[in-house]
Amino acid sequence: PFGINSLAKLSDEEEMLREAVRRFATEVVEPKVREMDENEKMDPAIIKGLFEQGLMGIETSQDHGGAGCSFTAAIIVIEELAKVDASVSVLCDVHNTLVNTVLRKYASKELMDKYLPQLSTEVLGSFALSEPSSGSDAFAMKTTCKKDSNGDWIINGSKMWITNSAEAEFFIVFAQGDPSKGYKGISAFAVEKSMGVEIAKKEQKLGIKASSTCTVNFDDVKVPAANLIGEEGKGYKIAIEILNEGRVGIGAQMVGIAQGAYEKSVRYAYDRTQFGKPVASFQGMQFQMADAATEIEAARLLVYNAARLKEEGRPFTKQAAMAKIYSSQVAQSVSGSAIEWAGGVGFTRETGIEKYWRDSKIGAIYEGTSNIQRQTIAKLQEKEMGL
Ligand code: CAA
Ligand code: FAD
Repeated sequence: PFGINSLAKLSDEEEMLREAVRRFATEVVEPKVREMDENEKMDPAIIKGLFEQGLMGIETSQDHGGAGCSFTAAIIVIEELAKVDASVSVLCDVHNTLVNTVLRKYASKELMDKYLPQLSTEVLGSFALSEPSSGSDAFAMKTTCKKDSNGDWIINGSKMWITNSAEAEFFIVFAQGDPSKGYKGISAFAVEKSMGVEIAKKEQKLGIKASSTCTVNFDDVKVPAANLIGEEGKGYKIAIEILNEGRVGIGAQMVGIAQGAYEKSVRYAYDRTQFGKPVASFQGMQFQMADAATEIEAARLLVYNAARLKEEGRPFTKQAAMAKIYSSQVAQSVSGSAIEWAGGVGFTRETGIEKYWRDSKIGAIYEGTSNIQRQTIAKLQEKEMGL
């Protein structure tokens, strides 16, 4: 009853992948969701399962051990996982749309040959941009990179809020090499944990509790010259161009959260009887559910449209920002309504409906807050209108 019937057509390969991920999510992830949320810890068996299912190198070429699928395929995987658990979804999202994509798009052949096969099969990655004093103003970072006499790089500083960092062995790190150049002094690096990365404070959060979010410290971490990604001073462009793609992924995560909450609660409301009828049969309930279903469909179309525009090499930055901002609003409002549709039961941990609402809140914060998306949309609107 909740199938996807849309002209935003998916290929046979994308449909098959959706089915496979749906099975993995319901059979392997779902039984562990509550325990992982309460323990605030990702089950290592799930990370292993994601690698075994080929979900950690979705767009990576088969030559590099990946699945060689489309960007939309990655989006579908994120959406399907989020229907069941937003933490597993973001783990997979960061690894694929941020970490792997930086390497695929900007790294030397040598770096791709070295790291992409590991990242497709066994090594988890993190994307380290934000710092204690630079979140929205990401290019004001204080972490430094300096060349030593051999041409290797020495990184010093502290990154904050880094997803996957408790489990990751590999980090994409952004650092400032020449503050006099402003953001044009920022470079990007491929950094192995074993080079000396220190994982510090783990945050306790409102939602996506099983996803690790830690401070990551760099104290004279020596990174080989060859691990510079792209050109020196181009790190800022790498960061934001990757985030433009990543934001579509977060949009997909939010669509999945909204859909997951909707399905759980509507099913409950058809089972629950009051006044001699299923509560879902009251028009007051049905109208709310119809509105929610409409909002989810609109959000999904924004997300898929941004993904297809990207795949076709057309401008998609504005559409990605719109998809993220709208989907995160829909995820919050639908998961909030879902709690109400289930009454008191929705407010308990029993059904897991309240978890969707807690998990939805992050959509308006990470990968650029909703205000930052608005700023991006406004800037592009001005440009398009020649103002
Ligand atoms: N796409 C491409 N280029 C962009 C861009 C965009 N969306 N936004 C800005 N730029 C470029 C500009 O063109 C300019 O480059 P050039 O000089 O080469 O033309 C440069 O960036 C600076 O532009 P601005 O002066 O307009 O930018 P700013 O300094 O005001 O802010 C920003 C830029 C830091 C990118 C800000 O807009 C932003 O997006 N902040 C949010 C940061 C963010 O998303 N962090 C996410 C961390 S990762 C994460 O969160 C992962 C997770 O949780 C799961
Ligand atoms: P601030 O920038 O301090 O913003 C505070 C408020 O001010 C917000 O409402 C914001 O919208 C508003 N604001 C700021 N500037 C403007 C403006 N110009 N106009 C209007 N309003 C404005 N970062 C990574 O690098 N890697 C990760 O893996 C990662 N994972 C994360 C996981 C979690 C759970 C969380 C919470 C964060 C994560 N982040 C990550 C960091 C995340 O990207 C930042 O938290 C986010 O970009 C916002 O930055 P901030 O928290 O410093 O908020």
